[in-house]
Amino acid sequence: MKSLRLLALCLALASVSVAAGCENTGTPATPDAGAPVDGSTPVARQVTYTPEGCGYEVVSAQVSSAALHSAVLGATPAPDHVHVSFSGPATSTFAVNWRTVGADTLTSQVLYGADEAAVLAADGPGAGVTVQSGHWMKYDRAGGFLVHEAHVCGLSASTRYFYKVGGAGAWSGVFDVSTSPTIGTSEVWRFGVTGDSRNEPTIFAETQARLQAAAVDMQIFSGDAVVLGPNQGEWDAFFEATNGTVSVQDVLARIPFMVANGNHDGLATNFLAQFALPQQVSPGERGEGEEWYSFDYGNAHFIVLNDTSTADLIAGAQRDWLRADLTAVDRAVTPWVFVMHHSPMYTCATAHGPETTLRASWQPLFDEFGVDFVFNGHNHEYERSLPIRGFASGTTEGQVQPSGAHGIPQAANGTVYVVAAGAGAPLYGVDQASTGYTVFAESTRNYVVIELEGKTMRYHAYRLDGTDLDVFEYTRP
Ligand SMILES: [Fe+2]
Repeated sequence: MKSLRLLALCLALASVSVAAGCENTGTPATPDAGAPVDGSTPVARQVTYTPEGCGYEVVSAQVSSAALHSAVLGATPAPDHVHVSFSGPATSTFAVNWRTVGADTLTSQVLYGADEAAVLAADGPGAGVTVQSGHWMKYDRAGGFLVHEAHVCGLSASTRYFYKVGGAGAWSGVFDVSTSPTIGTSEVWRFGVTGDSRNEPTIFAETQARLQAAAVDMQIFSGDAVVLGPNQGEWDAFFEATNGTVSVQDVLARIPFMVANGNHDGLATNFLAQFALPQQVSPGERGEGEEWYSFDYGNAHFIVLNDTSTADLIAGAQRDWLRADLTAVDRAVTPWVFVMHHSPMYTCATAHGPETTLRASWQPLFDEFGVDFVFNGHNHEYERSLPIRGFASGTTEGQVQPSGAHGIPQAANGTVYVVAAGAGAPLYGVDQASTGYTVFAESTRNYVVIELEGKTMRYHAYRLDGTDLDVFEYTRP
């Protein structure tokens, strides 16, 4: 009971980005406070800069100290927890985060190029090898460690790059990451969907091995990576997990990972510091621009929302941002529009019921702009809805639309709501008969691979053992 109370307290504290008082290791000391708790001279807590060649500004998370790369004091020991994502256009940029342990590892550099051998051999920029510098954020507790972040820009679409991170004399291994095809492409590409790794990182590692084997180009994750967002020990376990043969960090260093904030992540400083997501700060956003965001990949527009923010923001500033974002989408270029957030509006799980308040705030916009699919987690199982659009008169209960084979939409006549979660968290039960809108549900570990080729989607949900769970092909108008 005590531990439950502590968890509740910590989650409540995490929601206001204050980690003090929680049982944790390596968390920043009072990250939003004006002065260090030890009474020492205040230090820089946040940096803002425009990386060379990037058209966007980077804002670091607020930790006990943060600095640009200029304070180069050394670069040992070797970097780990390397992982990639997109903060700028996926056709021409990538961002990378990593960790070093030890207070004197203040170099945040990426060496990259299209020639693997040249990158492997380089100890600095040279022929075919370019350097980009980023910033570090220092966590004072647990002996101190640094989270580094760097942004690489000016790249070409559909191109494989090789890179390593660290500094002279102390580089990580060499990894490869590919940029998105030109936005609006009709060529084949695929993405993965998972969520809720939480208690069992080794199960998450298994989903990563499966997604890597499925050759996904990028992946989305609907939140709850850990049980307690401010607990750095859990994040360490998340990045270091292995299924015996495949390690999470080797996959995340190659396949860009775009994540939503879940209630357990709590928008903690650790979450914000360790993922580089689109940085534009919109009104009401607490998360240095990374709380809600959108990006294009291939011929799809992805919108990531934060359903843990206040009811006022969900129905106000975040909804306003959502409307503006959807209004700007050109369906001739990105016919596919996908939304991801953590807690489902439509679900038949027996643990958490549908979020009807979210429905009232966001579904009218999903309806108006014809969002194709919404991906959720929070309920640790797999389920898919019939196409839904509009509400029954006087209620917030969605109206099921006519559907074709496998319950798929007809002429994009409704939004499909998918829960694809349980990549580690304990499984929850499902009761398919309890709703009028569930096509298919199963309480099982799962991952989803979606292949797009123009306006055709080949959708494939798998059980964790690789067997078929939910398979269909759908062509939108
Ligand atoms: Fe959750």
